[in-house]
Amino acid sequence: MTLAEYLAAGQARVEAELDRLCPPETEQPSTIFRAMRYSLFAGGKRIRPILCMEAARTIHDDVPGIETVASTLEMIHTYSLIHDDLPSLDNDDYRRGKLTNHRVFGEAMAILAGDALLTLAFQTLGSLPGAKPDAQVRLLAELSSAAGAHQGMIGGQVADIEGEKQPPTRDLLEYIHRAKTGALLRASLRMGAIWAAASDAQLAALTAYGEHVGLAFQIVDDILDVEESSAALGKTAGKDAHQGKITFPAVYGLDVSRQMAQAESESARAALSPFGGRAERLREIAGMIVSRKS
Ligand code: IPE
Ligand code: IPE
Ligand code: MG
Ligand code: MG
Ligand code: MG
Repeated sequence: MTLAEYLAAGQARVEAELDRLCPPETEQPSTIFRAMRYSLFAGGKRIRPILCMEAARTIHDDVPGIETVASTLEMIHTYSLIHDDLPSLDNDDYRRGKLTNHRVFGEAMAILAGDALLTLAFQTLGSLPGAKPDAQVRLLAELSSAAGAHQGMIGGQVADIEGEKQPPTRDLLEYIHRAKTGALLRASLRMGAIWAAASDAQLAALTAYGEHVGLAFQIVDDILDVEESSAALGKTAGKDAHQGKITFPAVYGLDVSRQMAQAESESARAALSPFGGRAERLREIAGMIVSRKS
């Protein structure tokens, strides 16, 4: 299977699971389920759940229920995008090639759809069929700390917003990127490893890989905002400079930023050495994260 075929199969598996887990639009109150589904099924690379499933597969060939665990990462991610786009945050009109959630459903419903996806993620983890309580508690701790305010996504979003009015220092830049994006990418690998009952050494190797690809992913997101068109990205390009965001291109310039993303991708691949050939897909994904155009 080529990498493109593999990614398409992963996306289809995640989408089928999200469809199963998110109540249908025929349920009441239907507006909220329409709003949740609008953003959940607007497209998206599904990179976090794919990384989660692949981390598990690196440990064992078949890990039952992994797509359910993986889907909770996409729920958190989609909620974070809906809220990131709100007028009071980045104020974006387009996401995943469509109008943003608040542009279609209004701000109140967009806030609630984000809240509902956040809550659905933890409801799903709290009711995993066949879960060993110990693993389940660890998954809940992983996802909540990665999404949270202390070194997690919310903390990073706070620093990103407040950073618009601050000098772009290297330390602040690294904090923002590791927290707002890196933490959830890292958790994607760790949750897959935990659900597959990885050893401590395996978990540590996948954690290191996750930290490197997590940083690479946001460096590239910043580069694409400068280099690509809105049509290619499915979201408004060129907004970071306009809004005074603290980004890698703003602090280091494009060339150095590209080199730094490449170095993170290579460090990610190096962290996989304990797995030998079993980690080949993860190596390919680390390459794709840097070479992607959207
Ligand atoms: C965009 O994430 C926001 C970041 C955290 C960089 P993705 O690039 O994964 O967006 P989708 O899910 O493919 O739309
Ligand atoms: C978003 O970062 C990170 C999140 C936690 C949602 P950006 O604001 O750079 O993401 P895009 O560029 O809007 O997708
Ligand atoms: Mg933002
Ligand atoms: Mg944004
Ligand atoms: Mg961005």
